[in-house]
Order: sequence, then C-alpha cells, then structure tokens
Amino acid sequence: MRVLIVGGTGTIGTATVDAFEEIGDEVISVSRSTSPGVDITAPESMPAFFDSVGTIHALVSITGKVPYVDTAKATPEDFSSGFANKLGGQINLVLAGIPHIAERGSFTLTTGILAQHSVPGSVIAGTVNGGIEAFVKTAALELPLGIRINAVSPTIIEQPNGHSALFRGFHSVTPEEAAQAYVRSAHGIETGQVFRVW
Ligand SMILES: NC(=O)c1ccc[n+]([C@@H]2O[C@H](COP(=O)([O-])OP(=O)(O)OC[C@H]3O[C@@H](n4cnc5c(N)ncnc54)[C@H](OP(=O)(O)O)[C@@H]3O)[C@@H](O)[C@H]2O)c1
Repeated sequence: MRVLIVGGTGTIGTATVDAFEEIGDEVISVSRSTSPGVDITAPESMPAFFDSVGTIHALVSITGKVPYVDTAKATPEDFSSGFANKLGGQINLVLAGIPHIAERGSFTLTTGILAQHSVPGSVIAGTVNGGIEAFVKTAALELPLGIRINAVSPTIIEQPNGHSALFRGFHSVTPEEAAQAYVRSAHGIETGQVFRVW
C-alpha cells in the first residue's frame, strides 16, 4: 500500500510512519518542512503537491493546531484560526486529494478526545474536533469509487516528563498505540468511523 502521511514528522506522525513501514507499506511522509511538502492551510498549493506525489492508496492526516483560550475570552479570530487550521486544513486535504486516491482507498483524519471531554481552554479544540467527526460521517456517504474516510481520536499522548496539569487524571497512550488506529483505518474496511484511542 502507498501511504501519504501529512504530519509524519510530528509526535504521533513519526510513530505512525514506523507502524506503516513495519508492515511493508511505502510511506511518503510530508509536512511544511519536507520536500515535497504541503501546508494544509494553503489549498491553492495542493494540486501541484498531489501531482508530485502521484496516486496513493491512503492519505493519513496527523496535523492541525488550535488555540487554547477560555470561552469568555475567545475572540472570533481565535475560532477562525482553529477552524482554518485543524478543521479546514484537513478538509482541504480531502477535497484536493480525492482525484489522487486509488479506487477503494482511504482518508484518515485526526480529531481528539476534546470533542467529548473538556479541559479549561479547550472550547475551540472541542468545536473543531466535533466538526471533523461530523465531516467524516457525511463525507463517507458521498465519496466516489468506494473511497473510505475515518478519523482517529487520540487521548493525550504520554510525554517524557508527564503531561500538562490541564490533563491531570486523564489516561494517556503512547504515540505507538495511537499509530495502530491509523493502520487499522487504512487497512480495514470501515468508513465513517471515529476510532477512539482512549
Ligand atoms: N499530542 C497529543 O497529546 C494529541 C492528543 C490528541 C490529539 N492530537 C492531535 O494529533 C495531531 C498531531 O499531534 P502531534 O502532537 O503529533 O503534533 P506535533 O508533534 O506538533 O506534529 C505536528 C505535525 O504536523 C506538521 N504540521 C504543522 N502544521 C502544518 C501545516 N500547516 N501543514 C502541514 N503540516 C503541518 C508538523 O510539521 P511541520 O512543522 O514541519 O509542518 C508535524 O509534522 C493534532 O491534530 C493534534 O490535535 C494530539
């Protein structure tokens, strides 16, 4: 299987690249700092990027940033930046990627536990993650050529020095555990699902 991993240089992405390579897949790992590279917030650059990559069987997106700010202090700009990056950016990849996915191939996006569980300042993360999960549910019904789409929802990832006090008491997982959910999505038959790693 030929797998394009956007965000493959990040914490979860690096482990996911390894997980696909361990089972013999050809992995193309990209981010803003690779060559070829892609910026999920720059849809105008995507046709040339996808042309340079060629046909893929799976697109795995493990990227997206949102600001953390309390609801009463959040500005429209804070929400817009979260929408444009983690939500809109991953949708940009799907819209531009459709013609480049092989028949019965797949997209796997990244959401997160903050869609269902909240911590202080997570209102934008939760809203964005909820949007990703809703997008996946409907897009799965409409994608052509048997192309599937799922999302992976990791809990907080284990950090060498423990995770932020904001997530005190949360169960955490290793990047390697999260990586297996992306493999399951790309190699499985399910569509429209959110695979929770928590
Ligand atoms: N870490 C956690 O505890 C956790 C928990 C639940 C959910 N998540 C979600 O998992 C995803 C990845 O998290 P992570 O901790 O692995 O992040 P990370 O370590 O910060 O890695 C982010 C990756 O995305 C790339 N990237 C950043 N901005 C980009 C852009 N505009 N276009 C293309 N690539 C871009 C980065 O590379 P460049 O900077 O070179 O572009 C890097 O490869 C995020 O959506 C996050 O919300 C993380």
